[in-house]
Amino acid sequence: MAPAVSIEHLKKSYGTIEAVNDVSLTIESGEIFGLLGPNGAGKTTTIRCLCTLANPDSGTITVSGIDAIANPRAVRRRLGYVAQEVALDKILTGREMLELQAALYHLPRKTIPERIARAIEVLNLEEFIDRKTGAYSGGMRRRLDLASGLLHQPDVLVLDEPTVGLDIDSRLAVWNFLRQLRDDGVTIVLTSHYLEEIDALADRVAIIDRGTIIASGTPNELKKTIGGDRVTLRIREFTSDDEVKTAQTVLSNLSFVSDIVINAAQGNSLNLVVSGQDNALLAIQEALRDRGLPTFSIAQARPSLDDVYLAATGKTLMDAELAAAGTRDLKQEKKQEMAGK
Ligand SMILES: Nc1ncnc2c1ncn2[C@@H]1O[C@H](COP(=O)(O)OP(=O)(O)O)[C@@H](O)[C@H]1O
Ligand SMILES: [Mg+2]
Repeated sequence: MAPAVSIEHLKKSYGTIEAVNDVSLTIESGEIFGLLGPNGAGKTTTIRCLCTLANPDSGTITVSGIDAIANPRAVRRRLGYVAQEVALDKILTGREMLELQAALYHLPRKTIPERIARAIEVLNLEEFIDRKTGAYSGGMRRRLDLASGLLHQPDVLVLDEPTVGLDIDSRLAVWNFLRQLRDDGVTIVLTSHYLEEIDALADRVAIIDRGTIIASGTPNELKKTIGGDRVTLRIREFTSDDEVKTAQTVLSNLSFVSDIVINAAQGNSLNLVVSGQDNALLAIQEALRDRGLPTFSIAQARPSLDDVYLAATGKTLMDAELAAAGTRDLKQEKKQEMAGK
């Protein structure tokens, strides 16, 4: 059987910006597939090409074996798309929005009221469906988006950052809903820059950075590539440069320790990887004590997807986000500057 989605060597540039540079992905039927990456990584561009909303420069995309570039209509019928930011017409009610969506998908007239009733029931929209969408909360809007993406009963539901801006309760509700859909046989493709979201939901994940896939596999497979647990350690609440350097030397002499990084932004805390050692924390503290260094705090954790990202790119997802936000601020300043002139 053909995979639910196959993307091969996808490329898409906007002017000189290579938004997607040679992305290949295979998504199996019935799985939740997560595309994880910081803002600007190329997630939306990839998803828009998949959903036939953008034309690739090169590469191939198939959905259940059907060529998306040659047969966009047939592919659109099989896909439901929930966009990152949906521009809701605030004057329409939720029900009117769903009716519009049903018309866009050319659903048979007779089936429309039944489909809409079912969507209202499944997503619990009853209370607000006849109110104007302008008055919806973020959670209500997202539930309506989901209903809209599912109205034509697609085989594959594609969601771009499905829980951005939602509170914890609404986020958990969306997660549970997506798991339930998966269990009912719908293939789910979602993008996110929240690693907790991908970790919690995805059966398989691809990490994308600057238009390129840098790692892929199940979350567990990816974490195993880190090869050990992460240890975060502080000598003092704020450690001097001299002391942290001594600590680094002491630690680098321990055979079970690797990848030591000093985090100056966190009062010179130390991050490292330990593997193949029982009671690693105790051994570390003893080695430090032998050189007269105290331990203010020490913690060991299983690797996270952020560690996978860190290992591949040399920065954390959070740093990448901040850098992207910084670029946006600069762009904004430039615009204001130009407007002022
Ligand atoms: N319509 C567009 N015109 C110009 N540049 C774009 C357009 N869409 C995306 N880009 C650029 O392509 C890159 C990837 O963007 P995008 O796919 O939206 O990333 P993500 O969804 O991961 O945040 C970014 O540098 C972005 O600024
Ligand atoms: Mg995006």
